[in-house]
Amino acid sequence: MIGIIGGTGIYEIVEMGEEVENKVLQTPYGESPEISLFKLHGKTIAFMPRHAKGHANPPHMINYRANIYALKKIGVDSIIATNAVGSLDLSIGPGDFVVPDDFMDFTRARNGTFYDSRTVHVDVTEPYCPNLRQALISAGNVVDGGVYVCTEGPRFETPAEVRMFQKLGGTVVGMTGLPEAVLARELEMCYASICTVSNYAASISPGKLTIDEVFQIVEDKRKELTATIADALAK
Ligand code: HPA
Repeated sequence: MIGIIGGTGIYEIVEMGEEVENKVLQTPYGESPEISLFKLHGKTIAFMPRHAKGHANPPHMINYRANIYALKKIGVDSIIATNAVGSLDLSIGPGDFVVPDDFMDFTRARNGTFYDSRTVHVDVTEPYCPNLRQALISAGNVVDGGVYVCTEGPRFETPAEVRMFQKLGGTVVGMTGLPEAVLARELEMCYASICTVSNYAASISPGKLTIDEVFQIVEDKRKELTATIADALAK
C-alpha cells in the first residue's frame, strides 16, 4: 500500500478518492495522527497529515517515530512525502517543485531511530527510493534531484547558515524531512519526497522571511501538487 505524508494542506487528495475510512493507531511511541484510507485508481492509499489535525505539532515536536510506525502497521510499504522548503539555489524559485535525491541532517533534538536497544546501521547510499522518485518526476513539472538540508527549526536560518548550506552543496532547506526518511528506511519502506519551494532561503530572499509567505505559496501550489501526486499514484 502507498502512504502519503502530507505537510500543509494537501488533504484534498483524500477527497479525490472513494470509500474514505479514518483511523488513529496506537504505537509503542504514542498515538498516530488520524490516517485516512481511501481508494484512488483502484488502489488503497493511506493519507497522514504530518503535523496532525489543525497543524497542531510544529516540525520539532512531530512524533516522527509514531507516524512512520503507524503507517507500517497499517500496511504501507511505500511513502510519498510532501515538504515545504526554502531554496538555497537562485535558479530554483518559489513555486518550483523539487524531488531530492540526497539529504543532509542538521536536526539535533529528535528521536531519529527505532533501534535504541540493539545496534543497527541502515545503509543510505541511495537515500530516496528510485522507483517512487521516478514516478513523481514523470508525473509533473519538477526539478529532478537536489540535496535536502533539514534543520531543527522552528526558527528560519541565519545568513551564515545559509552560506554554509550552499557551500556544502545543499539545494533546499526544510524542517520536516528528517528523521522521517531514515525511519522509513529502518522499517524497509520505500520513501521519496516532493518539495514545494515556498521561498528563497533567508538572506538570499529579497526581504524578511515570514511564515505567511511560506503558507501562501504552498496554498497557491496545492492543486498542482495534488494533481502530480495523484498522477504518480496511477503509475
Ligand atoms: N527554511 C526552513 N524551512 C522552511 C523554509 C526555509 O526557508 N521554507 C519552508 N520551510
